[in-house]
Amino acid sequence: MSRSATIEGLRKFRKKLLRERDPWHDTSRRFRIRRFAGPECFLEHLEGVRVAHLTDLHVGRVTPMEVQYDAVSMTNAGKPDIVVISGDFVCHSQVYLDDLTDVIGQIEAPVFAVLGNHDHWAGAGPVREALRRGGAEVLDNAHTTIHVGHQALQVVGLDDAYTGHADRRAALRGLRTDLPVIGLSHIAEEADPLWEAGVPLVFSGHTHAGQITVARLHELSVGKLAGHKYIHGLYGSRGTQDPKGAVYVGAGVGAAIVPLRLGERAKREVAFFELGTQPGAFDEHHGEQEAHPGRIPSEKTKERRAQAVLRKQQKRKRRNGSGSNAGYDS
Ligand SMILES: [Fe+2]
Repeated sequence: MSRSATIEGLRKFRKKLLRERDPWHDTSRRFRIRRFAGPECFLEHLEGVRVAHLTDLHVGRVTPMEVQYDAVSMTNAGKPDIVVISGDFVCHSQVYLDDLTDVIGQIEAPVFAVLGNHDHWAGAGPVREALRRGGAEVLDNAHTTIHVGHQALQVVGLDDAYTGHADRRAALRGLRTDLPVIGLSHIAEEADPLWEAGVPLVFSGHTHAGQITVARLHELSVGKLAGHKYIHGLYGSRGTQDPKGAVYVGAGVGAAIVPLRLGERAKREVAFFELGTQPGAFDEHHGEQEAHPGRIPSEKTKERRAQAVLRKQQKRKRRNGSGSNAGYDS
């Protein structure tokens, strides 16, 4: 055996050892699959409709691609009727958009998506195109009706509220009151007014469950410091009592800054919702939780967030040359 072949063999052996020791390369350790029933009000409209929820894929350099494909294979294995993804598909750049298209394209069920703040920071137009090339329907303040067998279900999608792109009135315009509806919003606090508008179940993301949930650190970081009412999991009500709806905040698949996730609640996650099934019909990971106090962003904060999107657009435009539209969008 040549010296280079020996070195290559040793390198592969070392890599294998590292992978076996590394919890990030063990699907069962790094992911959680969670299953919940839908709201009671769906019982008269739907039977056996399974929704898979993914969020915060952050396809890019921080999250290994095998994590993305693990999420896809777990989603496909659950045989959902539809898949909803609540934003943050990219990680700081447009470099991995072809990978994003490939990941979305591997999902077998119809995919419905809304954008998140990272998608607007990186360039909403190209992210939308990448999603559409992968076969997803992107709901930018819009709704659509899908059919599962003879059953109709509306899906309403809010564009990202963090960066100021959510337009609830546009999203809800023309929504039928005689058909069941689920909602998608990257920011979970948008669920409150959606419930009031008759959307009883909303899927969200953005928080990554805090990524570190040991010693309830996520309640400090996401709740107290970032001011979120909804941090991870199920909140609200699926029954007839107030509030008039529920929101599920997914822990997400990827990460945009550091891949560190510590604690049970912080695990990467694929969630399944059984619509048309009575809550309590099967064991769930947890029931509806109490909302945290939260804090409404000030006008100054909203303005700062909106400006950040424009600054990044201008920076991309400068980098790509003023005559080119590549990577520049609104
Ligand atoms: Fe986000």
